[in-house]
Amino acid sequence: MEFHQPVLLKETIENLKIKKNGKYIDGTVGGGGHSEAILKLNGNILGIDCDPEALDYAREHLSAACPFPDKSRELDVSWLLARGNFKDIDKIAKENNFDKVDGILLDLGVSSYQLETPERGFSFNNDSILDMRMDPDLKVTAKDLINILNKDELEKLFKKFAQEKLARRLAETIVDARRLNPIKSGLELAEIILKVKPRRGKIHPATQIFQALRMAVNDELNNLNEFLPKALQLLKTGGRLAIISFHSGEDRIVKQFLRQQEEKGIIKKIFKKPISPSFAEVRNNPRSRSAKLRVAEKV
Ligand SMILES: C[S@@+](CC[C@H](N)C(=O)[O-])C[C@H]1O[C@@H](n2cnc3c(N)ncnc32)[C@H](O)[C@@H]1O
Repeated sequence: MEFHQPVLLKETIENLKIKKNGKYIDGTVGGGGHSEAILKLNGNILGIDCDPEALDYAREHLSAACPFPDKSRELDVSWLLARGNFKDIDKIAKENNFDKVDGILLDLGVSSYQLETPERGFSFNNDSILDMRMDPDLKVTAKDLINILNKDELEKLFKKFAQEKLARRLAETIVDARRLNPIKSGLELAEIILKVKPRRGKIHPATQIFQALRMAVNDELNNLNEFLPKALQLLKTGGRLAIISFHSGEDRIVKQFLRQQEEKGIIKKIFKKPISPSFAEVRNNPRSRSAKLRVAEKV
């Protein structure tokens, strides 16, 4: 299985304007696809991820690209990896001597590896336990949420993160179904969702509900909100921030934050509208379809 195919790779790297020997933080290093591209342009990398399995893979991947201190590939730069949550980017950067940097990248959401590894419990296609924690040290899983939240709380979650019109009926159907036995697997939950939202097009009707659960388990919008002001603090003048989001709630947070900071004269946006993947990229990697890239420069 390929670990992850980096999304909007060329567009992101071009717009980060990588400087030779500059310092860059990849807050979601995942399989290291974006980080590798930065290294190859002679940028130094601090890669952060909350998932130790991602870090193991990234370590191997980046070692192959840049077996520091081997200079045989004429790379004169280094990389290091840190386990943590990007909401703590200020502390992680300081601990690793990356406290004034030339660029910061976030490529939000899950990797293909996480999504496709049954034991991680992200998928609606198998009977593994619903889990969805990107950081295995988190205490609450998707199975806990789906079985413990009451009807109103489930409805609120589906409305907030999935803008789901049938949120009330879905919440009722879930609460009815779990009266007999707790809902354990992605497959069981997907079957319950299909009772309310029958299959129509290519996209599985459970997709958005699963994404909503995942966002709640990992507290994704709050992480992003905490990250943004800290990231700006770390950037040098002329440093760039690039964020790839996959969810309208995430993109709204980034858009509003950048607008406010531009009004205060702290950043300038590199382009007004976000960049989306080309038709060719979406055809080649359907998971990129909802990606949006926003980039800003500290002034
Ligand atoms: C879409 S993948 C990144 C893929 C990467 N750009 C590549 O090219 O391989 C997102 C990664 O971010 C990690 N992640 C998500 N939220 C995080 C957070 N708040 N803090 C740290 N890592 C996070 C996930 O564990 C996952 O490995």
